[in-house]
Amino acid sequence: MNDISLDYTGLMEDVVGEKHGLTVKLIESLSGRAEKIHKNLIELKEKGEIGFYDLPKIDTRDIKRFAAKIRGKYENLIILGIGGSALGTTAVQTALGHSFSHLLKKQKRNGYPRLFVADNIDPDVFDELLRVTEPKKSLYCVISKSGSTAETMAQFLIVQRMLEQKLKGKWKKRIVVITDGEKGPLRSIAREHGLASFEVPKNVGGRFSVLSAVGLVPLACAGVDIDALLAGAARMDERCGAADLMQKPAYLFSALCYLADTKKAKSSIVMMPYSSKLYGIADFFRQLWAESLGKRFDKTGKEVHTGQTPIKALGVTDQHSQVQLYVEGPFDKLLVFLEVERFGKRVDIPDTFSDRPELAYLAGSSLNELMKVENDGTRYALATHNRPYISIKLPEISAHTVGQLIYMLELATAFAGGLYQVNPFDQPGVEFGKNYTYAMMGREGYDDLRAEIRKRSGISGQKVL
Ligand code: PA5
Repeated sequence: MNDISLDYTGLMEDVVGEKHGLTVKLIESLSGRAEKIHKNLIELKEKGEIGFYDLPKIDTRDIKRFAAKIRGKYENLIILGIGGSALGTTAVQTALGHSFSHLLKKQKRNGYPRLFVADNIDPDVFDELLRVTEPKKSLYCVISKSGSTAETMAQFLIVQRMLEQKLKGKWKKRIVVITDGEKGPLRSIAREHGLASFEVPKNVGGRFSVLSAVGLVPLACAGVDIDALLAGAARMDERCGAADLMQKPAYLFSALCYLADTKKAKSSIVMMPYSSKLYGIADFFRQLWAESLGKRFDKTGKEVHTGQTPIKALGVTDQHSQVQLYVEGPFDKLLVFLEVERFGKRVDIPDTFSDRPELAYLAGSSLNELMKVENDGTRYALATHNRPYISIKLPEISAHTVGQLIYMLELATAFAGGLYQVNPFDQPGVEFGKNYTYAMMGREGYDDLRAEIRKRSGISGQKVL
């Protein structure tokens, strides 16, 4: 079946001690609440208020047709998007694509374009990207649910002008838009100019949207098997249909993190894949956990300031940078490992210089074995220093297992909203920043806010050396 699994032995009291570990009794004490939260989420789903649950079953035919149409035509597919419009795509492409696909010739890429995700607006980097990717050989995919995010719209305006100057009226064939079906300036521009477009479902928020057109269009164009990805998500959905909290991987993961935070003071959560290909998942999870659960008010309006700080680390690389802190620093962290049981390749270590005892132990082994032993070593170091951890195990990295993992993290986040009693689907802190940008860049309708910001920011700049 190739199911991913959740091993939480390292978070239990008998491994890391009473002060830092959980007991089965404590976890089970959440069962009653879990049922209520589940019921509430299902009600919201049935009322059509949250839509990410429906994504594993969506019809992908139009997306696959579009991907087939562009295959072989372009060297580059350039995504313009930020946050939830970018992180999921990067995570899946990093996991499933060739790690150095940008260096492969088109034939070796089977006609699929190179995927670039321009999710920042650093002028130097954006300029460099536009210069190394020949516009005549590129397709630009503008992704924004709201269709108005300043960063993405600025990128769009730059690209549109560049294409119009180089290709005249043909610029319209080089831009595909993924946005709300009705609202927003991006939708109206797409309509007015007849641009190819796909819809972001109304009831799916940015960070929960990778399994919608937001992620599926670019991923299908880059050669990812999107049906297998969705089948993986559907499999996780099926596993989470069980009645018992202890049997639902997503809810159980969520409950473990919540208890570690609220009962054992683990206010930070470090996701550490022992796989470079899964590093993007740690970034994706950071956004999900941070934006969904980092809230000032709970659902009743009470000031609560919830949220566990998500951090990313990479095994084995960060054994040589961050692990020292995790093993001996403050007792405020829960580690979550992503572990791969079977890597795609085995890389043997030759027995050259095996006459030297300092190297002989490596002879005849493999990078696979070394990686595993080092992962075991980090877990061992944590356990012996009473530092809790969870392992999410993937039998292999495939579209099916990555689909399971993504959906599990989304479901876990939605459920954690119930545990913390906050709304996991809004992001007032993000909107605050967006509104500041609109006001200070002179957007119409933001005059009052601009005046207020100017008044309040009179106090800044007094302590500058
Ligand atoms: O999760 C979210 O809602 C945000 O991170 C958004 O994805 C991000 O702000 C980009 O918004 P949009 O897709 O509207 O451009």
